[in-house]
Amino acid sequence: MAHILIVDDDETMRDALAEVVRDLGHSVCLAANGALALELVEREPVSAMFLDLRMPGIDGLEVLRRLRERPDAPAIAVLTAHATASNTIEAMRLGAFDHLTKPIGRNDLAQVLERMLASIVESQPLVASTEPETLIGSSEAMRAVQKTIGVLADSDATVLLTGETGTGKEVVARAIHEHGLHNRGPFVAVNCAAIPADLLESELFGHTRGAFTGASAEREGAFCQAAHGTLFLDEIGDMGMAMQAKILRALQERVVTPVGGRPVPVQVRVIAATHRDLMRGVREGSFREDLYYRLHVVPIHLPPLSARIADIVPLAEHFLARAGTRKRLSADAAAHLIRYGWPGNVRELKNAMERVAVMVRGEYIHATDLVFLQGERAGAADHVLDWPDEDLPSALARLEEMLIRRALRHSGNNRTDAARRLNINRQLLYAKLKRYGIEVADDRGGEGED
Ligand SMILES: Nc1ncnc2c1ncn2[C@@H]1O[C@H](COP(=O)(O)OP(=O)(O)OP(=O)(O)O)[C@@H](O)[C@H]1O
Ligand SMILES: [Mg+2]
Repeated sequence: MAHILIVDDDETMRDALAEVVRDLGHSVCLAANGALALELVEREPVSAMFLDLRMPGIDGLEVLRRLRERPDAPAIAVLTAHATASNTIEAMRLGAFDHLTKPIGRNDLAQVLERMLASIVESQPLVASTEPETLIGSSEAMRAVQKTIGVLADSDATVLLTGETGTGKEVVARAIHEHGLHNRGPFVAVNCAAIPADLLESELFGHTRGAFTGASAEREGAFCQAAHGTLFLDEIGDMGMAMQAKILRALQERVVTPVGGRPVPVQVRVIAATHRDLMRGVREGSFREDLYYRLHVVPIHLPPLSARIADIVPLAEHFLARAGTRKRLSADAAAHLIRYGWPGNVRELKNAMERVAVMVRGEYIHATDLVFLQGERAGAADHVLDWPDEDLPSALARLEEMLIRRALRHSGNNRTDAARRLNINRQLLYAKLKRYGIEVADDRGGEGED
């Protein structure tokens, strides 16, 4: 039971809302205008409120503005008969839990209230983290990567990181740097694909004053900047053959030659990364074979996220926390994340969590908040055991849905056969298909069933 404040200048409306809220088992206090509402919040332990927008004197938006400045502000749903784009946007911006239009049905009201009360634990603001990213992951693949990092951190060996875009190559490079002996110097990252070929040489090796037109001052290259630290050569597969020869020489002889200058010795650990298949580049003649083997001393491959199912939910929770929210994933949201294919890998997951951290108001993120992630991982329907479900009923529902989908697949969408495989009768199967919204395409065994 909670204490709910209803603010409306229309008495009939106030009483109607109060009746519903009381029926739901809560206590109610009423205010006919904004000033009274502010006073009541001072005096009474209000958990949530319904707030009318158009009122004489202090209007709803102003009440919202003043209340949201308080750290202990109640959850506030705006309720108006005059919804406009601008008052909707403004109310949400000011921190309204939701913006609803009158008239509102009993069920809708009950639902919003329930969500508002559930959201209260998260009303104290958290701040987004600015700490450097730590390496999250407990899948077999990530544990193997973590072990390798530990083993090679203190060595000088050149590391080649491969993996699709967004799999975490740069985070791994930073982890190697931070855990190793090479963190006495800085971590310097150079994206070889982003720098035009004719500037890359001076970027990496530096130049002397007057070495070329425009070189008005001496410049230290990345190899020297990273002295006693780590040089991260990102997208190394996108570099021209001439530069490849120079990099090879730097790696082998540990000297670099600034443009227009003399060779200087360098002490630096080099980590290279690419999303390309370098061996294929070698076969096709676009990547030097000797450089390939020079880089390949310690290869680390980061598998796509869809192949590291055990990492998905921990990463998602980590990114939510970093985004500065206490929001949590519901079991159905976790299942949705696990089934999704993640073409953009960890970066896509991070962006998705930052998006829902902002967009979702309420304690829980549900699968319906994640509809923008469309497209299943191949074979997703058969993975049922690696769920992080806390909530048994929804885990069982998920399991049931997956088994039904699989039975349909195995029976070529023949519902009679699927029901037999599942050992349930057809009527029950139909009911479940309807409940889970499963549409049966090309139902070959469907004719004459009924
Ligand atoms: N294991 C992980 N733990 C925590 N954060 C991660 C992890 N893997 C990736 N990230 C985050 O995901 C995002 C993408 O990672 P990163 O930049 O390292 O990918 P990448 O493999 O270098 O991609 P690209 O090839 O596109 O450059 C980053 O914001 C990074 O912090
Ligand atoms: Mg990268």
